[in-house]
Amino acid sequence: MNAIAVVTSGGDAPGMNAALRAVVRACSYHKIRCKGVRLGYQGLITNDIVELGPRSVSNIINRGGTILKTARSSDFKTKEGRQKAFENIQKNNIDGLVVIGGDGSFTGAMTLEKEFGIKTIGVPGTIDNDIFGTDSTIGYDTALNTAMDAIDKIRDTATSHNRLFFIEVMGRDAGFIALNSGIASGAQDILIPEKKDDIETLFSSIERGEKAGKLSNIIVVAEGEELGGVYDLAKFTKMKYPKFDVRVTVLGHIQRGGDPTCADRVLGSRLGIAAVEGLLNGKSAVMAGIRSNKVVYTSFEDAIQKQNVINKELIRIVEILAR
Ligand code: F6P
Repeated sequence: MNAIAVVTSGGDAPGMNAALRAVVRACSYHKIRCKGVRLGYQGLITNDIVELGPRSVSNIINRGGTILKTARSSDFKTKEGRQKAFENIQKNNIDGLVVIGGDGSFTGAMTLEKEFGIKTIGVPGTIDNDIFGTDSTIGYDTALNTAMDAIDKIRDTATSHNRLFFIEVMGRDAGFIALNSGIASGAQDILIPEKKDDIETLFSSIERGEKAGKLSNIIVVAEGEELGGVYDLAKFTKMKYPKFDVRVTVLGHIQRGGDPTCADRVLGSRLGIAAVEGLLNGKSAVMAGIRSNKVVYTSFEDAIQKQNVINKELIRIVEILAR
């Protein structure tokens, strides 16, 4: 291989810059050229591609977001868009592509591989942790800590006012952030899509809390939970218990920003190198991940289709802890 390109795609995640830096420096170490594609797959279509040397990624390991920028490209979903992308890949003499992103980004990479034979390798970057083939995705640990810090702050005011808070955290299809940040911040109950919740069970949990003498309560709700969302939950709870002072906080995109934690910087660094070395060893259409502290490669098919399963033990302990 003479040149590898790297792209960050889909939602950004803290630690993507660390992964990008690792890709660039691994290329330099193995004496191959590295090119950065700006603005996700859209940059492949518009030929927004820059040469990256080891110094162009100085001072970014500690920064959130992605210096390459990112996008969810609708043009890339069309055959014409991908044809343009392929032409630009050829024009820039790119032999392999590293895609840092989530399952939508891997679907794009897999299509490029199938349609044009481009060698592609994925690096899992998403705060949701919903990708099969790695114990943790880049950005997840930082998002967890951001959510936990925010919930701690809300607890201060909830306690002062004796209030019941519904707090929505991110996770479009997965409850990893909700479950772990909820346990870490002492939530009374945690609602996630993987556990089929019902409102009566939530009410019993709230009543248990009240009987145990709790004057304030935190309920953490994953964005993808299926009971109707935090605002409806708050409305129904207020109807059932008019004496409760109920509030809602949606944490939103604050969870996607900020300096990556040590764990995300190390993970991004290891996976960036694993991606380059995987390509150099002839791998393609796979994602680099870390399982039980070892680098492993998982086919894009499995990474996209299989589920990263929630640990049932964590669901079980929520009730034990909320006494
Ligand atoms: O996939 C990461 C994620 O942050 C989800 O948790 C969330 O639902 C989604 O992205 C939000 O996407 P956008 O930034 O495009 O609104």
